[in-house]
Amino acid sequence: QGTMQINNQGHLEIGGCDVVGLADTFGTPLMIIDEDLLRENCRRYYKAFTQDDGDGVLYASKAFLSTAVARIIHKEGIGLDVVSGGELTIALAAGFPPEKIFFHGNNKSANELRFALSCGVGRIVIDNHYELELLEQISAAEGYRPSVLLRLAPGVDAHSHAYICTGQIDSKFGFNIFGGGALNAVKRALESPHLDLKGLHCHIGSQIFDLGVFRCAALMMMDFLQEVRDHTGWTAPELDLGGGLGVYYTSGDTPPIIEEYAKTIKDAVLQKCREHNFPRPRLFVEPGRSIISPPGTTVYTLGSSKEIPGVRKYVAVDGGMTDNPRPALYQAEYEGIIANKAAAKPVEGVAITGRCCESGDMLIWDLAVPRIEPGDLLAISCTGAYNYSMSSNYNALARPAVVLVKDGKVDIIVKRETWGDLSRLHCIPEHLF
Ligand code: LLP
Repeated sequence: QGTMQINNQGHLEIGGCDVVGLADTFGTPLMIIDEDLLRENCRRYYKAFTQDDGDGVLYASKAFLSTAVARIIHKEGIGLDVVSGGELTIALAAGFPPEKIFFHGNNKSANELRFALSCGVGRIVIDNHYELELLEQISAAEGYRPSVLLRLAPGVDAHSHAYICTGQIDSKFGFNIFGGGALNAVKRALESPHLDLKGLHCHIGSQIFDLGVFRCAALMMMDFLQEVRDHTGWTAPELDLGGGLGVYYTSGDTPPIIEEYAKTIKDAVLQKCREHNFPRPRLFVEPGRSIISPPGTTVYTLGSSKEIPGVRKYVAVDGGMTDNPRPALYQAEYEGIIANKAAAKPVEGVAITGRCCESGDMLIWDLAVPRIEPGDLLAISCTGAYNYSMSSNYNALARPAVVLVKDGKVDIIVKRETWGDLSRLHCIPEHLF
């Protein structure tokens, strides 16, 4: 995908840059983002979703956020979904226009809400009754009338990994449609002179391959909009259907394409508009993974190995669950290639393990590799989403650098953490001197 290819030295090349050269210059582990592919994904979303007036695409910045990536997202006409004061601060540091930012989260603090109000974010997505009251109080006291959406749990089971399904009835997120919670919340928000209710939101999960699930959520949300109109007379002008489109990680993954996803959602909404004689709401989607995962590749250096005859051979890399916790957390699978021997034929299968003091710190259980030795480079693809953003400093490992590559040029967009950075927040109390 994207600009990834093997050059005539047999090295992996991304964005016209030799990955071996990048590793030499910037060290490893290194995350490489293919700018062309990132922009292409943004453009496809923009084209597929925004040809109808007023519809919008918001990039879910939890997947990966840096100031440079925020700039690219903005230049491609896409808004931003943030879930914390921290993400909002990064977005503002990038110069992202606040009115194009939607503020999500199931437990925003009073301070975060004040911050979001004071910088004028486009929408605050209210998750629960406590937050509804809190936001109303703060808005009343400080003289704001924010545009809000209410997050609902439509009761759709996304059939993805249980930890990343969020729309089902037993979920910590949103007002449940079943049982009256959502309808009461809508009434409450409509009555408030301090809140400007613009519409409803749902997000049913992540890494979803089945378009039928998105269709089902869209139909249920539209039925609910109609029910709300019956009860209150209010016709919701906006409907945000969240993110969740799956991506390719390993062979066997056959994700739907962005354009089909857009058509599925729009057809479902239009079908219900006709059925209920309901004006078409402005639609929003919030893709994260499907924008940033494929453009990201992580490069590691191979180090020690351990062979257990008849069982397996472990080969360790200089990163692991600290920069990619997804295999340990979700049994996620990845593909990899030896970047400095990209054209060589595989001769054995090895297990790629990280360098953390945890047996669960595995990256790939069975990778076919050519003859390898310490110092070789392993590139793992599709690591742009929920890797760096979920990284940790476990074992006091410093976070990798992130570079952006395009047309043979490379720019650093997140510097490598240093060992010195690791104690920057530590304090030694006086009595210990
Ligand atoms: N909107 C909301 C409200 C969300 O909660 C999420 C993701 C998205 C949009 C973006 O979903 P995407 O298009 O990226 O699937 N750490 C997990 C994924 C957690 C997703 C959380 N919410 C993983 O690594 O698989």
